[in-house]
Amino acid sequence: MPTPASKEILILGIETSCDETAAAVVGLDRATGRGRILSNVVRSQWESHRAFGGVVPEIAARAHVECLDEIVREALTAASIEFSDLDAIAATAGPGLVGGLIVGLVSAKALALANDLPFVAVNHLEAHALTVGLTEGLAPPYLLLLVSGGHTQLLAVEDLGRYRRLGTTIDDALGEAFDKTAKLLGLGFPGGPAVERTARTGNAARFPLPRPMMGRQVPHFSFAGLKTAVRQTAMALTPLRQSDVADLCASFEAAVADCVRDRVVRAIAILDELPPADMLPRDHRHLVVAGGVAANLRLREGLQELCMERNYVFHAPPPSLCSDNAAMIAWVGALRFVRGETDPLDIAARARWPLDLSATPALGAGRHGAKA
Ligand code: KG4
Ligand code: ZN
Repeated sequence: MPTPASKEILILGIETSCDETAAAVVGLDRATGRGRILSNVVRSQWESHRAFGGVVPEIAARAHVECLDEIVREALTAASIEFSDLDAIAATAGPGLVGGLIVGLVSAKALALANDLPFVAVNHLEAHALTVGLTEGLAPPYLLLLVSGGHTQLLAVEDLGRYRRLGTTIDDALGEAFDKTAKLLGLGFPGGPAVERTARTGNAARFPLPRPMMGRQVPHFSFAGLKTAVRQTAMALTPLRQSDVADLCASFEAAVADCVRDRVVRAIAILDELPPADMLPRDHRHLVVAGGVAANLRLREGLQELCMERNYVFHAPPPSLCSDNAAMIAWVGALRFVRGETDPLDIAARARWPLDLSATPALGAGRHGAKA
């Protein structure tokens, strides 16, 4: 616990934007700018949604209501602090499923009011984007590949609150493609980890699946066609043997890795073409991958390799901090709090909240700005 003379501020973070109920306490040392996680409690609702093959918004919101108080208490206890030790409370205000967001937001506001603490409303995507600041002390600028269940974007992260979108998906998000692939192959939910596990024993060269958008100038993504190709291949093979499923998963991951690599190469080229004042520093460039899909080992290895070729430094949060958690929310809350950026208690939940407000929705991007 910090002494009165300590320069460390303590923030409670709350995350309820999708199917994880999470609370965490994070410290930020004002003198060094470094963060530390005092506690990080995440309760997943997978069991409640499994029978439906995906997240059911009503069930998610109800589950958050049922356990959030307990999760917050657990986070404080694990951090060995009381509300009176906190400097502020932060909660995800969007983007995400509105029912769940409202649960977290209303609880955080009530706790802030009752304990006379400032409140910070956090963008969930910004929290994924800045997690490496907490885990590695890496500050912007850097190139970010944000890959989660609702988003797939390449962004130039210029500063806290300043993002330039270079590319986005025009249809499915990458996490969604993993989840749908898993569902159609009978691998269950959530799909990403299941596809990754199954792919380990598969032959990635067996099925030449499409690599949508490869070679295109603007580094957008598309995964709907890949998903359809997996479905058609699976239908043609039915009944599927275990080895067919493993080969399909491995072939799918290989296609994804190729697409991602090609799009990141294009984003790097765009940064290289920008006038000096507008671009990330040339001498010491960083690529960060974040969001739930960033836990995927095949993807991480491919990006690591690419970075070595292009003289970039590669960064990824540890897998447990790639998927949704409240430590990342508390971290952004802390960063904004020390800049004096707190929010009024009448701030509303936002289903859509793009990081780059000037970016136009990509053609065909049905879920742009939606769930994180
Ligand atoms: O960031 P996240 O936890 O939640 C959202 O904000 O969407 O990302 C969840 C997504 C899901 O689609 C899940 O299947 C995917 O991340 N995911 C993975 C892996 N772990 C989680 N995808 C591929 N490989 C993984 N190991
Ligand atoms: Zn997320």
